[in-house]
Amino acid sequence: MPGAFEGETVTRRRFMTGSAHAAGAIAASAFALPALGFAVGPVFERHHESWQDVGPTGDFSETSYVPKTITIVAGIGEAGKSTVYVRKRNPSIDTKGPQDLEYIAISTRCMHLGCPVRFVDAAQRFICPCHGGVYDFTGQVVGGPPVRPLDRFYTRIVGDRVQIGARYSVNRELQRFSPRDPGEPLDGIGQYLYPSRPTIRK
Ligand code: FES
Repeated sequence: MPGAFEGETVTRRRFMTGSAHAAGAIAASAFALPALGFAVGPVFERHHESWQDVGPTGDFSETSYVPKTITIVAGIGEAGKSTVYVRKRNPSIDTKGPQDLEYIAISTRCMHLGCPVRFVDAAQRFICPCHGGVYDFTGQVVGGPPVRPLDRFYTRIVGDRVQIGARYSVNRELQRFSPRDPGEPLDGIGQYLYPSRPTIRK
C-alpha cells in the first residue's frame, strides 16, 4: 500500500485521522446523549391521573372559597403540597368557559412568576404578595403583571365527596388549555408561542 511500511494495512496518516474522528465522536456524544435523554425522557414517563378528596360537598358554597391542601408532587412530603381554593359553581358569576364542572378549584400559583396567591375574603380578590398581582373572584387578572387568569383543577363528585383532578390553564375567556407555566399568556398567538410541554406538571 502506498505510504505504508511493509506489512501494514493502513497508513499512519489514515490511522491518526481515524483516531481523531473517533475521539471527537466520543466527546460529542458525552455531551449530546445526556441532553437528548433529558429532553426526550419525559415523553415516555407514565403520568398517573389521580383524584384527591377535599371533603364533602356540603363544605363548599357559591359565595366564598374554602382553602384545601392537595399533593402536587408525590413522595417529597410537605414540599410537594399546595393550597387550592374550592367553591361551588355560581351560575350568575361563572358565565365564561365550559360549564361542565359543578365545583371550581383555583390554583394558588401566580401567573406572573409563580408566587403563592391568597384569597382575601373581605376584598373577594386573590392577592399576590410578590409584585402586586390581583385577581378577581373568578381568578381573572384585574391588576398587576400576571399574564393570564389563575390556573384551575378539574373537579368531580363521587358520592357526596368533592375530588380534585389535574391542573389546567385558562385564557381570558376561561377556555381550557393543557397546563402552561407562569408567565406564558394564552390569548391570541400566546397559545402557539407557549405550547404545553410534557415536563409541565401540576
Ligand atoms: S409573582 Fe405574582 S405578581 Fe409577580
